[in-house]
Order: sequence, then C-alpha cells, then structure tokens
Amino acid sequence: MNSSPFPVVLFSKLFMEVIDGNEIAAQIISELKVEVNSFSQERPTVLFIRVGEDPASVSYVRKKQNTAKKIGITSQLLVLPDSITQEDLLDAISKANADQEIHGILVQAPLPAHIDERKVFNHVNPTKDVDGFNATNLGKLCQEMEEGFTSCTPAGILEILKRKKIVTEGKHVVVLGRSLIVGKPAGMLLLRKGIPGNATVTFCHSRTPDLAKFTQKADIIIVAIGKPQFLTADMVSTGTTIIDVGINRLADSAKKSGFRLVGDVDYDKVAPLCSAITPVPGGVGPMTVAMLMSNTVKAFKLSLETSYS
Ligand code: GUN
Repeated sequence: MNSSPFPVVLFSKLFMEVIDGNEIAAQIISELKVEVNSFSQERPTVLFIRVGEDPASVSYVRKKQNTAKKIGITSQLLVLPDSITQEDLLDAISKANADQEIHGILVQAPLPAHIDERKVFNHVNPTKDVDGFNATNLGKLCQEMEEGFTSCTPAGILEILKRKKIVTEGKHVVVLGRSLIVGKPAGMLLLRKGIPGNATVTFCHSRTPDLAKFTQKADIIIVAIGKPQFLTADMVSTGTTIIDVGINRLADSAKKSGFRLVGDVDYDKVAPLCSAITPVPGGVGPMTVAMLMSNTVKAFKLSLETSYS
C-alpha cells in the first residue's frame, strides 16, 4: 500500500466515481423491454408470494410488480396470511410449480418465524427459481453452469462491475458477509473463470478477528454485513472499489419519515478514499430488481426451450 497517501488521496478524489445504480438498472430494464416486445405472443409471467403484511415486504413486492409492468412482464400476487402453515405454503408453491403459465416464482422474505425459509426456497422448481435461492441453483453457480439462476443482488453486483469495466481479474476481492443470498454467491461469481471473475476472494464475517487487516489489502470490497456504517475509513486503502449492499434505517428527526437510509459503509468518510463506490440508496438496490426481471425473462426462454424439446 502507498506509504505517502497524500498524492493518492488527491488522485482518487479527482477520479472517484459514484456508481449510479439507477442509471445502470434503467438501461437493463429498457434492454429487457425491447426483448420482451420481440416475443411473438406469450409474455413472461412471474408469481410473487407474500406472506403477511410486513410493510417493507409490501413495498418491495409493489416495486417489483411496477418494474415488471414497465417491461411487459405479467406479474401475479398471492398474499397468504401470517398464520399459514408450512405445509400449506409448500402446497401453494407446488401449484405454481405445476402451472405452465407461470415462468418464475418468488417467495418474498422474511417469512414468519414458524416457517423454515430454506425448505420453502428449495421447494421452488429450480427452473422457475428467479431468486436463485434454491440449492440446485447455488450448486449450478459453483459448477459454473450458465443455465442456472443467480441470486439477484450478486448478479447485480457483477453487472455493475461489468458495465463499469471494473477489472476483477487478478484482483483481491474481500467479501464482508457470508449469507446464502449475497455474500457466498457474490464471492463465488468473482471466483469463476471468466470476466468479470478470475479474482482472488477472501470471505470475512462477524467472527473474523482483525477484519481491517483484510479490508486494507483489498482492491474491491463487497460489504453485506447488515450493520449500518460498519466499514470505516481506517479500514480502507486509497483507490479501493467499494460495493455497499447494506440498507439500514437510521432514526432522523429531520426526515418526514423519521428515518434515513444508510448502507454498511460510513459513506461520507470512506467515499473520498475510493476509486469507485456505490451509494445507498441508488447503488446496488435498483440492480437487484433489474436482475430479477432479467432472471424472469431467462426463465421464460427456458420454458420455451423445454416445451419444444
Ligand atoms: N427480501 C428482501 N430481498 C429479497 C429478495 O431479493 N428476494 C426475496 N425472495 N425476498 C427478499
């Protein structure tokens, strides 16, 4: 690392890029719209299953439905009560698995505590698993099989790196967080042979001692640890690219809502050190929805291939 940070700080300040996730997502959405319009008759159809009335889930699903509509993807919403049994939820998924008119299925998380989320995600037919949470699709990711579905947030991160031409080959990527939905698949994607990929990946998590020792040596840091403003300036070297996956609510009496959204990065102090950084909101978040739409179109095309074979 640079022993005299002054010129590097100046350099990175001049060239620091705030990555606009809204802009990249809008580009993907318009590409998908063109593709969907080119399909002769049938339209891709995605089913959202929401259990209960959690306000964040209501809002996320609404956003996903609105985006689907913009593209020309048909969406259906099945709302089930909080009290639903695991068996009844699995039955609802079985029906959707068997329904030829449904190409993609998404069960919105979090689910009530009495439901085993992993069983639910694994019950979705892997060919309709537009969330990419199913064990089969996670396995396909490890086997580097293109026809599988990749979890939308990691897929969005990869798309950001690709479209922003951020080199990953030979770079040291540090992933903070080991979740099945973000941390693990993001690391696996960057480890893959190919571009973006070919990176050296270190996974760190809440039990990693002296975490800064790893983050200070990173070329790219993916932060998905779920703690507001966790990554601080002393943990980051100048010129690092930072992808912030966190979405946390911090109480803020100046806001009408009573809160403001912050990521897992102490943005104001860290951003001036970076070569590129994703903000919160407006960074990775919109990409997740765009990649869900991309996965839905992929599921639709897959269904056409299988129905003709
Ligand atoms: N809850 C928050 N984000 C997601 C997501 O990407 N997929 C699902 N199924 N639930 C979520």
